Amino acid sequence: MRLGINIDHIATLREARKTNQPDPLEAVFICEKAGANQITMHLREDRRHMHDFDLRRIIESSFLPINLECALDKSILDMACKLLPARITLVPEKREEVTTEGGLKLDSRLKEPIKRLKDSGIEVSLFIDPSLEAIRKAKELESNAIELHTGRYANLSLELFTNLKRTNNALNLNATKKEFESELSLLKEASKESLKLGLKVYAGHGLNYQNTQAIVDIPQIEELNIGHSIIARAVFVGLERAIREMKEICKSDGRF
Ligand code: PXP
Repeated sequence: MRLGINIDHIATLREARKTNQPDPLEAVFICEKAGANQITMHLREDRRHMHDFDLRRIIESSFLPINLECALDKSILDMACKLLPARITLVPEKREEVTTEGGLKLDSRLKEPIKRLKDSGIEVSLFIDPSLEAIRKAKELESNAIELHTGRYANLSLELFTNLKRTNNALNLNATKKEFESELSLLKEASKESLKLGLKVYAGHGLNYQNTQAIVDIPQIEELNIGHSIIARAVFVGLERAIREMKEICKSDGRF
């Protein structure tokens, strides 16, 4: 299982003080050393963490492929067609959200930009909820790949396996268990259907050291993109070790 490291959270820390540290480019070099397979970064319309200069410097200097996440924003796509990251992952964006909350709505407006990116030699992936309908639309739109949004699965796993909602009996344990199992089944079905249709299958959002194994065990998924949990752990053990620990979980599928 390949592991892409989402390094936006390094830039978030830098932006907390609007200085020049920690430097996301330095994180790229540590990711390479720790055995990560890809760098993932999100250039948001409001540039709340990564800036255009980060994208330029990172694309120029990284030995790892860059997976640029962005919304359907003409000026960002223009820049991407010049800088040529290995992949663009199209994601939905709302200004007020803390993080990307749900999958992309797929409609015909995406057709032309997808073609343009592919013609520029950039692989295109669509960040979608695990629904068969979304996968069939991604195929119609001629995307190369999909990334399954694991956010709902991850939230349910937090509710079940940590104390976040247990205090004050805010959790209906049996109902939450059922929802968790059904979300995992959706991810499995969606992965099967995607590969059957010839779409590459990636996944990410909210994955951590506890809930990633079940996703690694889905045989059709070939790559995970993980950010927050790794950077959070890095605060205590350092980025290199935090990545190596997640890489160990990813390796347990015996593929990479
Ligand atoms: N994949 C995509 C498409 C994302 O938007 C994000 C969050 O920016 C991630 C993966 C990583 O999510 P997290 O930081 O929760 O691991």
